[in-house]
Amino acid sequence: MPLSTAPCLALLYIFALTLVARSVYSWRREEFRDCNQTPFCKQARAAKPTHDKYEVFEVALINGDLHAKILPLSTENGEPSTPLSLELLFYSDQIIRLKINELHDPSDESKRNRFEVPNVIENTLHGKRLRIRSVEKREKMSIVSLASDLEIVLQHKPFEIYVRDDKDRILSFNNKGLFYFEQRRQKGEGDDWTERFRTHTDSRPRGPQSISFDVTFHGADHVYGIPEHATSLALKYTRGPEITSEPYRLFNLDVFEYIEESPFGLYGSIPFMLSHSAARSTGFFWLNSAEMLIDVLAPGWEGDDVNRREVHESDNIDTQWMSESGIVDVFFFVGPKPKDLLRQYTSVTGLPNMPQHFATAYHQSRWNYKDEADVLKVDGAFDENDIPYDVLWLDIDHTEGRRYFTFDKSLFPNPKEMQQKLANKGRHMVTIVDPHIKRDDGFFVHKEATSKGYYVKDAHGRDFDGWCWPGSSSYPDMLNPEVQKWWAEKFSFNNYVGSTPSLYIWNDMNEPSVFNGPEVSMPRDSVHHGDVEHRDVHNVYGYFFHMATADGLLQRSGGKDRPFVLSRAFFAGSQKVGAVWTGDNTAEWDHLQVSVPMVLSLGITGLSFVGADVGGFFGNPDPELLTRWYQLAAYYPFFRAHAHLDTKRREPWLFGEPYTSYIRDAIRERYALLPYFYTLFREANLTGVPIMRPLWMEFPDEEMTFAMDKEWMVGNSLLIHGVYAEGSTSESVYLPGQGLWYELKTGNSFPGGDYIKVPVSMSAIPMFQRGGTIIPRRERPRRSSSQMVDDPYTLVIALNNAHEAEGEIYIDDGKTFNFAEGAYIHRKFTFSQGSLKSSGINGQRNGKVFTSSSLIERIVILGLELPITSHATVEPGNRRIELEVGSLLLRPGMQSNAYILRKPNVLISEDWSIKVL
Ligand SMILES: *[C@@H]1O[C@H](CO)[C@@H](O)[C@H](O)[C@H]1NC(C)=O
Repeated sequence: MPLSTAPCLALLYIFALTLVARSVYSWRREEFRDCNQTPFCKQARAAKPTHDKYEVFEVALINGDLHAKILPLSTENGEPSTPLSLELLFYSDQIIRLKINELHDPSDESKRNRFEVPNVIENTLHGKRLRIRSVEKREKMSIVSLASDLEIVLQHKPFEIYVRDDKDRILSFNNKGLFYFEQRRQKGEGDDWTERFRTHTDSRPRGPQSISFDVTFHGADHVYGIPEHATSLALKYTRGPEITSEPYRLFNLDVFEYIEESPFGLYGSIPFMLSHSAARSTGFFWLNSAEMLIDVLAPGWEGDDVNRREVHESDNIDTQWMSESGIVDVFFFVGPKPKDLLRQYTSVTGLPNMPQHFATAYHQSRWNYKDEADVLKVDGAFDENDIPYDVLWLDIDHTEGRRYFTFDKSLFPNPKEMQQKLANKGRHMVTIVDPHIKRDDGFFVHKEATSKGYYVKDAHGRDFDGWCWPGSSSYPDMLNPEVQKWWAEKFSFNNYVGSTPSLYIWNDMNEPSVFNGPEVSMPRDSVHHGDVEHRDVHNVYGYFFHMATADGLLQRSGGKDRPFVLSRAFFAGSQKVGAVWTGDNTAEWDHLQVSVPMVLSLGITGLSFVGADVGGFFGNPDPELLTRWYQLAAYYPFFRAHAHLDTKRREPWLFGEPYTSYIRDAIRERYALLPYFYTLFREANLTGVPIMRPLWMEFPDEEMTFAMDKEWMVGNSLLIHGVYAEGSTSESVYLPGQGLWYELKTGNSFPGGDYIKVPVSMSAIPMFQRGGTIIPRRERPRRSSSQMVDDPYTLVIALNNAHEAEGEIYIDDGKTFNFAEGAYIHRKFTFSQGSLKSSGINGQRNGKVFTSSSLIERIVILGLELPITSHATVEPGNRRIELEVGSLLLRPGMQSNAYILRKPNVLISEDWSIKVL
């Protein structure tokens, strides 16, 4: 949650007044810097493209990497004209890495090494290095050929790097001549390096050190990615003729009341951009955790020199990247298809982790469930209303004066018993643990952190002291590995008194949010471990905090159980750690709609376990909006309802009928689809491909889908179209591809490749299963997901035009890491020539085993044309079962015209086949 209601300390009366003013629903734009108020951004945007600023020399192949130096040809403002170092590194899967840095000068101690971000690049990447044997040197360029149809060209003068296949350029770096690397310099007489913003002063003792450059995505129709912004999936031009927008900003901020349609920075940052066209998808990632701004340049922008373009090129997208500090450490990915990019990107930054099964179900949160009685009442009401849920969340007010790792003794006198009561129903609890530590000498966390010197320091070397929920607070220095370890230990059952094994954690405010800091965050001249300034690590702080928390949960279980930690701040790599949500949204239709491109953008940049607060954090949704939100959110990868302290209660049953039933149906639909979702979580865990996908990820050739924000795919089989307007009675749904689609409500099929008009009622949003797919479901309503473990399955087979279909199911113990040692069931179902087969998907099955005695109790076949007298035969056993025709009740209100095989009773874990005759 952000700042919104006063902590009410008489001492800070004036501060309290500003808080009250802020609780009006409006975004306080003036609290955040824009490009003009950010000197390095203003300077980079004003720079004229030039091709005679840098020259490459001393190109050499060393240990299979290409090394060179870049000489600045003209310098300004006392900047040194020392050469920069350049390295080109190559990895399997055609991944290319470029590093540009200041040359390390051991004799100049005043020059610290520029910051390089740790803990993001996978250790395994090193093993994927390709050593290049030869470089072709020409007069003006050096060429490395990476594959028969892939070359990297380092042009010496003017300095430029590009990747090309046998026909065209794919990606270019400094094609437009915007490269600028501001080397650190001695402070001269009269140099004033301080920067001021509102009442804040940044002393900038190390002076200017910004970097900017341009990247061209050749042949691209659109660019995507670089979350987090509350805006469309396909990024918009930010600069060019008649376009005056702020650049997309990557700077982790606790933005109060963010608005939809804005390039301003939000809680997390992933500096990874993708481009897509029917011909090729490409990607570009800059590993840099300082403030970053990115312009998407419209054709005809001032540096767009049409004469310099190569002959075949028309659809290029130029972008300009600007950062306050750090180094150039960038990766080029050449696809060629969207899913290839995800594989390539996650081989650099890590695959998404595999969550515990319960975490993929429905979560109920609110600021705040007040006390134990409230918790048990809400828990009981779910049962009374026959609505499943898995996790109940406690926000900041469950603590003793906002000292995390404590429970308020008067409100929560028996936290263990309370957790146990939920655990008895197979449910879990989550409590919040934020990074601001109350500066209270009686608080053990503060005492330890102070005595060990574990806090981030201010510019004067004292423990940084900022204002946050508990009042005066300090922040553990998560850059320090020792602090990470210490922090993780705080989650042991001994340290976290009142916690039990069914308790998991939520990290909020980890941008970090500092109420009285510049832009509600930490001053950039604060100092971290290793004498690193906060400006260098700002965007990665929240990720390290998230990581240390997850490590704590891992250790707490003796390394046995998969952690679950939700975080608001994130960076590239956060997918390795846990889930993320889109922060403090509002109960408005626009926010429901923008949640879709926001979650999609995170998915395509590797972070697949994501959702938005159902209902909107601020404000009060009316029953229709809340219902529509549940109906859509049931298909977010992370499904949690949450609400601000000042909002009215809105648990699913509070609006009465018919809404309670609609919401119950939506939540039950998620539970029915849990086998499918869990299989998709595993797919993400193995391939990086997200659970929630833009249509173009599944239909890369379909230009109609490239800028679509209102519908998306869950996996490769389900198409969801949200309803984003009040009173909608029909929706225009685009069905991509050439194949068939089945509306699950009616069983009707439609050919792809066109818009169809679908009537909608309040009972559900449009959802279609793609012909050619098989989806595993579980139809028996239970209280929580853990009570479904032994339940039988239903397979829904949607045939394509060739009367074929296939699908998968992945199952494991839902809790431990045994799956990594082979303890799982992974089956493939194929339907062809009238026969359904189940066969094992081979993984590395060494050692541990997982078994299940669950049966398949029903098979639904859509799109089959057969005589009415048909039956089916099950093998092994040569058992005959009847085939029923007609309408089937999948869910109340969902009737499908289908063939149904009842009680085939084959095991989910075994090989079998069923022939329909
Ligand atoms: C999958 O998730 C597990 C557990 O979260 C993680 O250790 C592993 O690296 C991930 N990727 C693969 C390929 O197993």
